[in-house]
Amino acid sequence: MSKEKFERLEAMRKKAQEAGGPERIKKQHDAGKYTARERIEKLLDPGSFVEIDEFVVHRESAFGMDEQKILGDGVITGYGTIDGRKVFIFSQDFTVWGGSLAEMYGLKICKIMDMAVETGAPVIGINDSGGARIQEGVKSLASYCWIFRRNTHASGVVPQISAIMGPCAGGAVYSPAVTDFTLMVKGTSHMFITGPEVIKTVTGEEVTFEDLGGAMKHNTTSGVAAFASEDEDDCFHQIRALLSYIPSNNLSEPPRVDTGHAPEDIDESIDEIIPDDPNKPYDMRDVVMKLADNGEFFEVFQHWAQNMITGFARFDGRSVGVVGNNPAHLAGTIDINASDKCARFVRFCDAFNLPVITFMDVPGYLPGTAQEWGGIIRHGAKILYAYAEATVPLITIITRKAYGGAYDVMSSKHIGADLVYAWPTAEVAVMGPDGAINIIFRKEIAKAKDKEKKRAQLVKEYREQFANPYIAAGLGYIDKVIFPRETRPLICKGLDLLASKRQSRPPKKHGNIPL
Ligand code: HXC
Repeated sequence: MSKEKFERLEAMRKKAQEAGGPERIKKQHDAGKYTARERIEKLLDPGSFVEIDEFVVHRESAFGMDEQKILGDGVITGYGTIDGRKVFIFSQDFTVWGGSLAEMYGLKICKIMDMAVETGAPVIGINDSGGARIQEGVKSLASYCWIFRRNTHASGVVPQISAIMGPCAGGAVYSPAVTDFTLMVKGTSHMFITGPEVIKTVTGEEVTFEDLGGAMKHNTTSGVAAFASEDEDDCFHQIRALLSYIPSNNLSEPPRVDTGHAPEDIDESIDEIIPDDPNKPYDMRDVVMKLADNGEFFEVFQHWAQNMITGFARFDGRSVGVVGNNPAHLAGTIDINASDKCARFVRFCDAFNLPVITFMDVPGYLPGTAQEWGGIIRHGAKILYAYAEATVPLITIITRKAYGGAYDVMSSKHIGADLVYAWPTAEVAVMGPDGAINIIFRKEIAKAKDKEKKRAQLVKEYREQFANPYIAAGLGYIDKVIFPRETRPLICKGLDLLASKRQSRPPKKHGNIPL
């Protein structure tokens, strides 16, 4: 008796594995993509995946759908572990109605999202779908919205990661958009609200899928995706690396690992990194890599708004978020995209108990009508909002320029940094020598016989008097002027000191960040 019952279960489990059938699986493989199940197996620790809802089927009858039921309904959901830590996962199965999302499919995703929030574990979504399942009409739309709502409520409670491994179009893009990090695979993933056909009809523009919403477009231009992966295996590697830096939920501390790199083990070449000419660029990523444990810097949004760097690193084994102006791009000025990039990253770190180390070398905001009319006032304000509301430890290193409003917002002492260190090369002032001289000595320069000589002399005097860290240090705005080689040990000591930092803000429903 029980034998038959066991056999039935066995047969059903086998059936559920078949998904859309061998032909569609072959098509998936031929397109350079793994199947939904293979993806889960490759991403999670071997043997750790526990599937739930594998026998769920749709309850639609329109378009003859009652004749076609596929166990699992086109999405695989469950939980498992990555590096031994619990995660929840859903993986859309393109071999079943093109991975299209519908009522029961959506409920399966909602179920694991609810469990993730209740148990405090990250959610990873693997997206490969033709969007709303047309046969289920408005039920599919409702289902999307149940997910969006959960994405929003889970934001800041558990990390949410979206891997795009195929199409992700129309309103379907908004679930990944709300999650913390979106990764896209080069060549096989596309995201857009309206596709090339619709665009051609409405605007007359002709654009390919790749140019419109391919991995690099969203990594370089739109800032929708934070990572571009060479292939699916690379994407899994990036997800595992990303998770290694972050806690499982907002009530946990980030993992601390033994990196084998002692705090006092320093790379003395850091003393040579700032060029003698204050207008010569250098790459702030090199600064981070010379200081962090084992020279490792896991960059987030590597390809977008490169005048600002964001990413994760470890100091004495502690995970931190790193933010920096990068003089190698746009002279390190702050523009609209850099503001968004910085603010969103700082808010992620603050939500998930990650200290933020800020490397400052900023001549100011990027001038121009494009920036002003694009709303640099509104976007730039996000940076100060993010730092001012942060309660995690904030450590700032001023490597060179720290001018004007940009100095104020980039984690200065005044906006809330706990520890501010400046290198002897730091220039902390209201504006750079050239701009300042032109304003305050305009009349003197106009009157001078040799205007250029006068200007050069005034610039030199201003530079000597103001373009240094000592006026700010004299006011206590900088806690210590340090040699670059002292930076690594002091960051490690600072993180130790601030590990017990407790700060809170007045209770409120939520703030109103200038979006
Ligand atoms: C039902 C779908 C489907 C969908 C694809 N399929 N999309 N079934 N609903 N939305 C089915 C196809 O019928 C086909 O079934 C199988 O999936 C594979 O599709 P193909 O077209 O053969 O694959 P491919 O050539 O690779 O093209 C993939 C695609 C294309 C680019 C995604 O299928 C496509 O354009 N689909 C429609 C996309 C779309 O407009 N979706 C609705 C968007 S509106 P068989 O049986 O032949 O294998 C939306 C609103 C969301 O999503 C709003 C949220 C707020």
